[in-house]
Amino acid sequence: MVICISNQKGGVGKTTIALNLASALALAELRVLLVDFDPQSHITIGFNIDPQGKTIYRVITGELDIRESIHQTSIENLFVIPADEDLAGLEAEASQMENNRFLLKKELDKIKEEFDFVFIDCPPSIGIYTINALCASDFVIIPVLADFYSLEGFSKFFKAIEYIREGLNPSLEILGIVINMYDRRTKLTKEVEEEFLKYFPEKIFTVKIPKNVKIAEAPSFGLPIQLYSPSSPGADAFSLLVEEFIEKIEKSKQIKINRKM
Ligand SMILES: Nc1ncnc2c1ncn2[C@@H]1O[C@H](COP(=O)(O)OP(=O)(O)OP(=O)(O)O)[C@@H](O)[C@H]1O
Ligand SMILES: [Mg+2]
Repeated sequence: MVICISNQKGGVGKTTIALNLASALALAELRVLLVDFDPQSHITIGFNIDPQGKTIYRVITGELDIRESIHQTSIENLFVIPADEDLAGLEAEASQMENNRFLLKKELDKIKEEFDFVFIDCPPSIGIYTINALCASDFVIIPVLADFYSLEGFSKFFKAIEYIREGLNPSLEILGIVINMYDRRTKLTKEVEEEFLKYFPEKIFTVKIPKNVKIAEAPSFGLPIQLYSPSSPGADAFSLLVEEFIEKIEKSKQIKINRKM
């Protein structure tokens, strides 16, 4: 199953959610692959991976077999296909490539059955990277902040998803919208949450991710929140998010996911 974490708005927690959700599932003894499909390479940096040229870019350009690009992380069961600055070149090069919206799908289709979950971290735009990620995915998770601009940006992103579903990838499903840096004490948070609930009632994750400094600190130690600060409110929120994530997948696919938690 392939899930991309995507929103054209920057700094909403895409990488944070991709990294911590993937890690938590791997810690529950599921086999997880995380693809860094952002030229900013934040997943790669967050896991302290030195890609040594074995990157998603070289897989897409046909220089490297995808299996050779899979790096083991410090967490058993968690693997990363890293990115480096070369990935930025793909934007221009893709225009010369055939079927350029399915470049990532073509590669991931070769290996996705070997993992319980494949996650894709996307950059903050609806360019070639995000379109490729959406075309390669069964589900998309959309992190948002509870602010006015997130609501604005979201409707634009929603239209992009509809466009993908109409032609390029009809089986793409929005798994859910995750409200990040949630602060229940502020009036704006409540108002924005109500707006999201009004328009997308079944799509909002019940679990909200609070603003928690441990979440922001963890990547500088090369660790997910669950290992960096297991008793923090951030780690608690991610444990609940994983449960809800699994419930949603089980419901949508009518399957049972066996995990150790
Ligand atoms: N719940 C949270 N509590 C505290 N800090 C957070 C939280 N979520 C994210 N952050 C921090 O906010 C910043 C932006 O998060 P992140 O990098 O995950 O967003 P992004 O959507 O991937 O950004 P980009 O669009 O640039 O890829 C990071 O410094 C991250 O550590
Ligand atoms: Mg990011």
